[in-house]
Amino acid sequence: MRKISMLMVISSTIILLTGCQFGNDQNEESITLYSERHYDTDQMLYDLFEETYGIQVNVISDEADKLISRLQNEGSDTEADLLMIADAGRLERAKSLDLFQSVESEILNEQIPESYRDEQGFWYGLTKRARVFVYHPDRVQISDLSTYEDLTHPKWKGRIVTRSATNIYTQSLMASMIAIKGEQEARLWAEGLVANFARDPQGNDRDQAKAVVSGIADLAIMNTYYIGRMLHSSDPYEVEVAQTIRIFFPNQDTTGTHVNVSGAGVTKYAKNKENAMKLLEFLSSEVAQRAFADANFEYPVNPDVAPNALLSSWGTFVAQDMILSNLGIHSSKATLILNEIGWK
Ligand SMILES: [Fe+2]
Repeated sequence: MRKISMLMVISSTIILLTGCQFGNDQNEESITLYSERHYDTDQMLYDLFEETYGIQVNVISDEADKLISRLQNEGSDTEADLLMIADAGRLERAKSLDLFQSVESEILNEQIPESYRDEQGFWYGLTKRARVFVYHPDRVQISDLSTYEDLTHPKWKGRIVTRSATNIYTQSLMASMIAIKGEQEARLWAEGLVANFARDPQGNDRDQAKAVVSGIADLAIMNTYYIGRMLHSSDPYEVEVAQTIRIFFPNQDTTGTHVNVSGAGVTKYAKNKENAMKLLEFLSSEVAQRAFADANFEYPVNPDVAPNALLSSWGTFVAQDMILSNLGIHSSKATLILNEIGWK
């Protein structure tokens, strides 16, 4: 009897001191996610995850490169169990900086196609985006459009805008061209494209669409999800821009449109590895994929899940046939060539 009441005193003291109960230990039943995403609908999924598995998700949001630096600085002291960032090129960079650990799971391998995850399990793609053409329908006919390569033709002189060489999307597109065409051909392609720029690359993807509508250029290369984001923007001009432009998936009869992912990996020093894997499995499941991708107007990576009505209205498309982790192999060469040929 005495023993039992002593135990009760000890356990209530622990509850008072730590603010948590046995079976709900902070270390075992929560995970910390470093994420560049910050969408309200994500929180609903994390709440559902917590209800289902009893694991709380603590989210720390910041820009991708800041989260990468933070993980580097924190080393083994980090609280982060998962790092979630956009672009396979950036995920590969985090891998090469030794920030991830390899994890294997049958569920992940079933739910995420091989092309969209690291083959050693250092990171897993969760949403997919395409780098497409957007054009002004008054100045460009759909019959004028075909491939990324065609944009080097003199008929496009002074008509094209896209992002700078320092941007990861540009670097990954170039890395994909090196993978497909080889270094020499890819260099000639980039030179030809730069020769047709309407201006020195500047601004983000939305600024490229705005340049098309304002008449600076006729065609922009940009990521699909920005069109969805602009259509739902609180800025009426962005809505007008997105309603004016048209979208085209290049290389449909040849090598496919460049796609990329946003994704996540379990950190090297994760203190809650199993729970972090459970969250990855949950976010790639049929239950979560549609909502998770929809939050940023992206395509689900899980082939069993259809995209939303807006994305479906653009039709299906053929993507580059490429293991995205291979982009990492070519990324430093891509950056070097872009600098050499004067892609600003
Ligand atoms: Fe983006």
